[in-house]
Amino acid sequence: MEYKSDITQLYSADNIKNRIKEISSEIENEYKTNDELVIVCLLKGGFTFTADLIRELFMDVRVEFMCVSSYGNELKSSGVINIKQDISSDISGKNIIIIDDIVDTGRTLFEIRNYLSKKNPNSIKTCCLLDKKEKREFDINIDYYGFVCPDVFVVGYGMDASGMYRNLPYIGKI
Ligand code: IMP
Ligand code: MG
Repeated sequence: MEYKSDITQLYSADNIKNRIKEISSEIENEYKTNDELVIVCLLKGGFTFTADLIRELFMDVRVEFMCVSSYGNELKSSGVINIKQDISSDISGKNIIIIDDIVDTGRTLFEIRNYLSKKNPNSIKTCCLLDKKEKREFDINIDYYGFVCPDVFVVGYGMDASGMYRNLPYIGKI
């Protein structure tokens, strides 16, 4: 068996695992155990990162999911954020960390952050595994990130190209 496209590995499964341990320590150090922390995972791409990160967090957390679409079947942004599925519990007074796979223009995190802030949480932070810093168009602060990523299209570890390659245990460029 083989994949349809050539994929060059950029971040190995071990690289990712080690970096996630560091990010989880940062988060543990910033929140006290009696803080009510809610992780909001952005689907679909954020599912793998969220699953691995929360299992490194030795504290009480709730996990919520939102399904947002920003990209169609193309390797570039469609420029529109569509909330297909919203969180299902009340987050007022809670501390929120929004988790996504990768930040590009910043539109997704910018809009979702604004959207969730209207639900009166105590605080909102943002976390993504990869940051395509040079592509940023929206003014959004990333509180926790894994790696600064070059401006190439990446797949694997939750991230897709036309729905494929989310299952790769590493991240590669296509
Ligand atoms: P933004 O809204 O422009 O910041 O784009 C972020 C969203 O686009 C992420 O949630 C990803 O789903 C997707 N995305 C951006 N760059 C890539 C990439 O290189 N590979 C896969 N998905 C990407
Ligand atoms: Mg996404």
